[in-house]
Amino acid sequence: MKISSRIITKDRTPILFGTDSLTAIDRLAGRLNPRGIFILTDRNTKKHCLPLICEKSASVVKAEIIETEAGEAAKSLENAGKIWNELLSFGANRQSLLINLGGGVISDLGGFVAAGYKRGIKYINIPTSLMGMADAAIGGKTAVNLGKLKNQVGFFHAAAGIIISPEFLKTLPEPHLRSGFAEIIKSTLISDPALWRRLQRHSFDSMVNLPFDSSVWLEVLQAAIVCKNKIVVSDYRERNRRKVLNFGHTLGHAFESLSLGGAGSPVLHGDAVAAGMICAAFLSNRKVGLTEADMRIITSYIYQSYGHLPIQSVAGPDLMQVLRHDKKMCDNKLMFTMIKKPGFPVINISCDENEVSESLEYYNSLTRM
Ligand SMILES: NC(=O)c1ccc[n+]([C@@H]2O[C@H](COP(=O)([O-])OP(=O)(O)OC[C@H]3O[C@@H](n4cnc5c(N)ncnc54)[C@H](O)[C@@H]3O)[C@@H](O)[C@H]2O)c1
Repeated sequence: MKISSRIITKDRTPILFGTDSLTAIDRLAGRLNPRGIFILTDRNTKKHCLPLICEKSASVVKAEIIETEAGEAAKSLENAGKIWNELLSFGANRQSLLINLGGGVISDLGGFVAAGYKRGIKYINIPTSLMGMADAAIGGKTAVNLGKLKNQVGFFHAAAGIIISPEFLKTLPEPHLRSGFAEIIKSTLISDPALWRRLQRHSFDSMVNLPFDSSVWLEVLQAAIVCKNKIVVSDYRERNRRKVLNFGHTLGHAFESLSLGGAGSPVLHGDAVAAGMICAAFLSNRKVGLTEADMRIITSYIYQSYGHLPIQSVAGPDLMQVLRHDKKMCDNKLMFTMIKKPGFPVINISCDENEVSESLEYYNSLTRM
């Protein structure tokens, strides 16, 4: 199936989505009339994604390429400094345009770099991972990590445009596809009960066997993009409504931070969020009336695709330590986004440490299910 590129929002940031959306790069870049275009890539997106955009865009062929390391470790202040120096040595000025070609790491890092360089330059996100397309590239939140603590320094700096083409997903490794799929599950759980019912017919493992331009993929992807954008537009600076997007993230971020400091390889963002959503479903049942049946359905749908996180100390004291640093902590209570039922999120529900521990015990008991 083909969806030709179309603008699915006319808000602060135009978002172009479709199987031929890459043809819009020149139009969008031309409208911004930049002096110099710079493309931020990592090793993988330079290899797999840059050739695709070069085929479709004349302006990209003339751009300077900046390559950074791949993966979460790239989201550091040191690395942002290196990129600022590269921009400076290429002669980038306030009218230059940065194109972030990559997953959530590249859009978070590139957006951060663009926000700081010469007090702010324009940038376009071209997300190449499922996480980037469904979530990270949309909404103007940019950040780098401080040590093992996630997203501690950042800016709100909206992209001048976002171009989303499912074509890139063909080369995305399956673990990253699975990780991004967690944000699609989240979007449907917080905003679209009908899509949630339809999604239950397709496990992640059945979805990976479908082409990325099939109607199922295009429907869920577009729904996630529209959901994220609608929420962001209604509350850009996360004063209230935007917090619904944090469903699964209070504990998800903590699991991720914990694994960044551990001996094993870091847990992927979406895998951590998947585990966080199971805990959030448990807490939603205890605190805001999510039915036991819905809690079980959500748990088993997520658990069958993600299994158990490879972290030893999911319920240990280190986790509580990480949680105390979390930006969602308020008056020694942890703030959660929960759902009363699929499609009906509630924000700012506080939980004490005992309640959090119970949710972690529930999650840990799943290995024995
Ligand atoms: N700002 C936000 O609103 C927001 C929202 C969600 C997540 N995030 C952030 O996003 C990050 C995770 O994003 P991610 O999962 O995309 O990770 P990522 O950017 O590290 O990409 C995953 C891996 O896939 C590779 N890759 C990307 N596209 C590819 C392609 N088309 N073909 C082959 N390889 C490809 C990358 O090089 C990397 O190795 C986290 O840092 C998270 O905090 C931000």
